[in-house]
Amino acid sequence: SKVAVLMGGISSERAVSLKSGEAIAQGLRDGGYEVTEVDVVSEDFQLPDGIEAVFVALHGRFGEDGGIQSRLREMKLPFTGSGPESSRISFDKILTRRVLEENGIPVAPGEVLQCSMDRKLGVPLVVKPPREGSSVGCHLVVEEAGFGEAFADAQQYSEEVLVEEYIPGRELTVGVVNGRVLPVVEIIPESEWYDFEAKYVTGDTHYVCPAELGAEITADLQALALRTFRALEADTFGRVDFRLSPENRPYVLELNAIPGFTATSLLPKAAGAAGVGFSELCCSIMERAHL
Ligand code: DAL
Ligand code: MG
Repeated sequence: SKVAVLMGGISSERAVSLKSGEAIAQGLRDGGYEVTEVDVVSEDFQLPDGIEAVFVALHGRFGEDGGIQSRLREMKLPFTGSGPESSRISFDKILTRRVLEENGIPVAPGEVLQCSMDRKLGVPLVVKPPREGSSVGCHLVVEEAGFGEAFADAQQYSEEVLVEEYIPGRELTVGVVNGRVLPVVEIIPESEWYDFEAKYVTGDTHYVCPAELGAEITADLQALALRTFRALEADTFGRVDFRLSPENRPYVLELNAIPGFTATSLLPKAAGAAGVGFSELCCSIMERAHL
C-alpha cells in the first residue's frame, strides 16, 4: 500500500529525524510498501495524493509533541505511534514526571524553576529544558558556580526549566513495541555525560544489549518500562530511558514516543537482539497505524 514517511521537521532534532526517516523509508520499502518521503519544513506541510497512512519519523517539537498527530487526525490519515494527548505529555518532562509520580513510578527528585534560579536541590544536578530531545539544552552541573550558565542555556529553549538530582550510576534504556518489552540496552559513553555529541558525533559511546544485569533487575526495568508506557497511554512503540543507581535502584527519566530509528539506534538494536529485524520492525509499526 501507499504510505508517506514524515521526516526532518522544524525542531532542534531535524538532522536526527532525517536519518531516522530515511532508514524507516528503506525498511518499509524492503517490506513491500510504496513509500513517499516527505520532508516537513514547516507546520504547513503538504502530503501527496493517494497516501493511505503515515509513518511519523519526526523527533522533537511538532513531531513528537502531539501537534502533527492532531493535524493527521483532522486530515483523517492514519498515523503510527502515540496519539496527540499521550504525545503531548510524553514530550513534556514536567508533565511526564507528574503522571509517573501519580502512578508510583520512581523518578529522580526534581523541581521546576520558572524565572528565578532559586532552588532547593544542590549539586550535582541536571538542568533540562522540559520540551526538547537528544539532550539539547541539557546540562550536568557538578559545581555550584556552573549553575548560572547551564540555567541560562536551558532557558533559551523554555522559560520553565526542570532541575533534577543527578543519579550517579548507569544509563539504560528499554524499548516497548507492539505490547512486547525488548531487552535492556546499556549505554556506556566515553565520558560520564551522554550528551548530543556522545549520541551522534563522536562514536565513542558503547552499547551493550542485552545489558549485563542480574535477572531480577532486568525484570524490574522491563516491568517499569511497561508501566511507564501504559501510564502515559502510549501507543504501539516507545523507548523508556533510565538511570540505575550504584545501589541498583532504577529511576525513569522519560519516554521517547518517537525514538531514534537509524539502523544503529537503540530501539532497533534492542529489537534486533530480540530477533526482530529492522524492516520487520518498521512494517509491524506501520501496520498498526491508526486515527
Ligand atoms: N530523541 C531521540 C531521537 C531519541 O530519543 O532517540
Ligand atoms: Mg527524549
